[in-house]
Amino acid sequence: MEGPMGLLAELTYRCPLACAYCSNPIEIAAYRDELDTATWQRVITEAAELGVLQCHLSGGEPLLRRDLADLVRTASELGLYTNLVTSALGFSESRAAELHDAGLDHVQVSLQADEPTLSDRIAGTPSFERKIAAARTVRELGWPLTLNVVLHRQNIDRIDRVLAAAEDLGADRIELANTQYYGWAAKNRAGLLPSREQLAQAEVTVRAAKERLRGQMEIIYVVPDYYATYPKPCMGGWGARQLVVVPTGDALPCLAAHELPLPPANVTEASLRWIWESSPMFSAFRGTDWMQDPCRSCDRREIDLGGCRCQAFALTGDATRTDPVCHLSPDHGLIETVVEEANVDTRVDLPLVARPHR
Ligand code: SF4
Ligand code: FES
Repeated sequence: MEGPMGLLAELTYRCPLACAYCSNPIEIAAYRDELDTATWQRVITEAAELGVLQCHLSGGEPLLRRDLADLVRTASELGLYTNLVTSALGFSESRAAELHDAGLDHVQVSLQADEPTLSDRIAGTPSFERKIAAARTVRELGWPLTLNVVLHRQNIDRIDRVLAAAEDLGADRIELANTQYYGWAAKNRAGLLPSREQLAQAEVTVRAAKERLRGQMEIIYVVPDYYATYPKPCMGGWGARQLVVVPTGDALPCLAAHELPLPPANVTEASLRWIWESSPMFSAFRGTDWMQDPCRSCDRREIDLGGCRCQAFALTGDATRTDPVCHLSPDHGLIETVVEEANVDTRVDLPLVARPHR
């Protein structure tokens, strides 16, 4: 069995933002009992022994952990490529210098829009100016800069201006990923899912920008799977490439797997190797044996691996069913209904339920 490529260390779910599209768990109080520094360092060491090459330090807001630089140093000394995924709140010059000294390789800053009013409204907190300042600090310290922009119907019409802001900041890469409807985001699906017309325009804009910025800025654009014909192989396949460890130590094949009725696998009770190689959590949907029809007899089963297990479970209550975004799924009507609704009322400022601050 191959080892994982990447460890996504969700250090904390505490966060100064309150984004309406947040895909983290709704019951955040259940994650307050966070792993201590020594346990995270053991997890990172075991991940390196398993073959992990990249360590993504994320959350919530990882800067809320005072031991962040210690964890970066551990990963860096083990030869891992370290990537900080941050809202940038708390990314002061002194904190940045501390992380730089610890060997941090790369910074991803989330941006909600290209201008403060909309950005702060979506983030649920005044933050835009601090994000821009932090992005400039990233560049000044010589780090590669990636901007993460979660797209939805309230900001997708501004992609051209978001790209211009990214250019202005000297970003090396921008990820324009449409909202995934897990956690809090599922509550706001009606206010977040773009219309067909919005998507069509966004695709034209992104195509032109990719052409114009070739060799200067990498643009990753992920279309919303609700509009796709086939699903994507979620996380590159269940337990195939990535492993996620959440603040309390549960190890998961993907961010939303804690919703599934599978026995938890916690790093305080078992080694990461056993969890990766043998735990029911990671074994449940590896390969194709678990599939039902139509996936079981489909030519694409090795290509998309039946799509997303968490989405299948969230929408049908059965994680072994075909992902309903697939047009061959018997449950595809669930998606068609939502998409049709998103194209009847096309206002772009439907009310959103802000995630409570915590
Ligand atoms: Fe993929 Fe299953 Fe759809 Fe076939 S039926 S395309 S394997 S999701
Ligand atoms: Fe869990 Fe897709 S998010 S399999």
